[in-house]
Amino acid sequence: MCGIIGYTGQMDALKVLLNGLEQLEYRGYDSAGIALLSSSSDRLLVKKAGPVATLKETCQTLDVESHCGIGHTRWATHGGVNDVNAHPHVAGKVTLIHNGIIENYHNLIERFGFQDSLVSETDTEVAAKLFDYYYHGDPVEAIRKTIRELTGAYAFCILFEDIPDQIFCVRNVSPMVAAHIDGSSFVASDVTAIIPYTNRYFVIPEYQIVTLRQDGISVEDLEGNPREPEMLEVSWNVEAAKKNGFPHYMLKEIHEQPEALRNTILPRLRDGLPDFEEDGIPDDLFRNCDKVAIVACGTAMYAGMVGKALMEPLLKIPVSVNIASEYRYESPLIDEHTLVIVISQSGETIDTLAALRLSRKYGAKVLSIVNVKGSTIARESDYVFYTHAGPEIAVASTKAYMVQLASLYLIGCRMAMVRGNFDREEASQFISRLSASVPAVEKVLAKKDKIKTAASLLAKAQDAFFVGRGLDYAFSLEGSLKLKEISYIHAEAYAAGELKHGTIALIEEHTPVIAVATQDHIYGKTLSNVREVRARGAFVILITKCGAEVPEDVCDLHFSVPVTYDQFTVFPVAVILQLLAYYTSDMKGLNVDKPRNLAKSVTVE
Ligand code: G6P
Repeated sequence: MCGIIGYTGQMDALKVLLNGLEQLEYRGYDSAGIALLSSSSDRLLVKKAGPVATLKETCQTLDVESHCGIGHTRWATHGGVNDVNAHPHVAGKVTLIHNGIIENYHNLIERFGFQDSLVSETDTEVAAKLFDYYYHGDPVEAIRKTIRELTGAYAFCILFEDIPDQIFCVRNVSPMVAAHIDGSSFVASDVTAIIPYTNRYFVIPEYQIVTLRQDGISVEDLEGNPREPEMLEVSWNVEAAKKNGFPHYMLKEIHEQPEALRNTILPRLRDGLPDFEEDGIPDDLFRNCDKVAIVACGTAMYAGMVGKALMEPLLKIPVSVNIASEYRYESPLIDEHTLVIVISQSGETIDTLAALRLSRKYGAKVLSIVNVKGSTIARESDYVFYTHAGPEIAVASTKAYMVQLASLYLIGCRMAMVRGNFDREEASQFISRLSASVPAVEKVLAKKDKIKTAASLLAKAQDAFFVGRGLDYAFSLEGSLKLKEISYIHAEAYAAGELKHGTIALIEEHTPVIAVATQDHIYGKTLSNVREVRARGAFVILITKCGAEVPEDVCDLHFSVPVTYDQFTVFPVAVILQLLAYYTSDMKGLNVDKPRNLAKSVTVE
């Protein structure tokens, strides 16, 4: 959470910072601010509650020439949303921005007697005070001494007033990358802010001090030894991170799903079978485990729910799905025979990262499914299965979910082959059905009008319920999350058979119920549950496979997906549910891409 950017070089720093903040805004949009230094004038600080657009407007009247500065877009943790709590924070000669949480800030306030001089309610200002306390002309020394005192996660960009052309950075857990090109040095929370200038960057290693100068970037460890960071390259370009004519990133990303699926599936196929040799994932990983534990947060966790519903019956071993924020504080029943599958689009979610570290401590092997190359989760996993969704900007995840599913299907298939649950023919049939999901997704995308009609009805609702059984229940969970997070309609998903044990009391005349019934063996059972809610006045939107027999009186609106095999209906069903949420939010005039209170990359607990 929170986006940070720093720039020093020949270009106009204000422009670079504001452009960068726009790219990083998906990480938080409670407030935004910048600080600029120049040798000829005083430090300039502008910070405003509200989105980056508000900051931009305020900056329009500025007449400043600066080539060095830092910028921040905030997702509030400590202290309310207002101008004072916005970053950057200033203390004496120090100006800084921060992404993370300093957990011991109360203790530091007392120990160092900062009580009376703090102006904000933030943990960050306390860190600024401490850097200033230890600063006597040597920034590196001040950083070393300060971080020794800090507990928690942080990525800091620090300006020292008497060094007006350099930026100092240090991080622990919270992500930060840096890049240098032709007289310009950049630092940012992620590459999206840097990609307009260069596609070569490096991840700032934890506990190393990075100094950005116009002519280059130096990295040293805490003992003062110079370090050579590993350079990485982003494979997508700036166009991939633009809207390309779509009104919202979310709609664009929904439409990118066929391509994302192809990019994720096809390179892993050899002779029509899944092959992970190029990913460096050995078959022994799958052969030698006796259970699978999937760990993730949010949408990624719901992809895991589908993974479990697919893999457990296929592999005939226990597969659990775990919410990372819970799992990390439990004593999970895992050992060296457990395959832990960590799923994360960003590769930076702090709870997921902590769960990964815990799993490795228990001796389990970790295979992560990650979208962002070189992210912390990718780097710390034993094996990485990269999804190829390209940059996902909308806060609500769509294409990343889709490719997480495809990855789980590929992994499930390879595991089944290796463990003898599938012979070659069965595996090859499974893969052809998986590949056929791509045109099925395309077909749904081509028929959006009916989904718009359903959305216009949903837009008036206060509550909505999603029901399904088995795999259908797993899809429904994600469908309800999508709807609630962007349309602010209270939405819940229930295993259809469970509804009558309480929740059915909430069904009134016109309450929308979205019923997913794509699984043949439980189709009749789900329809019975649908009838139960319809009898109580619910407005039922039913999703089935094409060709399913749908009695006339069972629903108000019916969608069918062009898929024949039960295991593969999730791909087109997910698109219907995503579009339903998208159009509902848009019709309500809400900020589809940046829903209130949320952030895309959750790097605080
Ligand atoms: C946030 C995002 C969700 C995402 C979740 C996990 O809550 O808003 O869209 O599913 O984090 O993120 P990850 O990057 O680990 O997949």
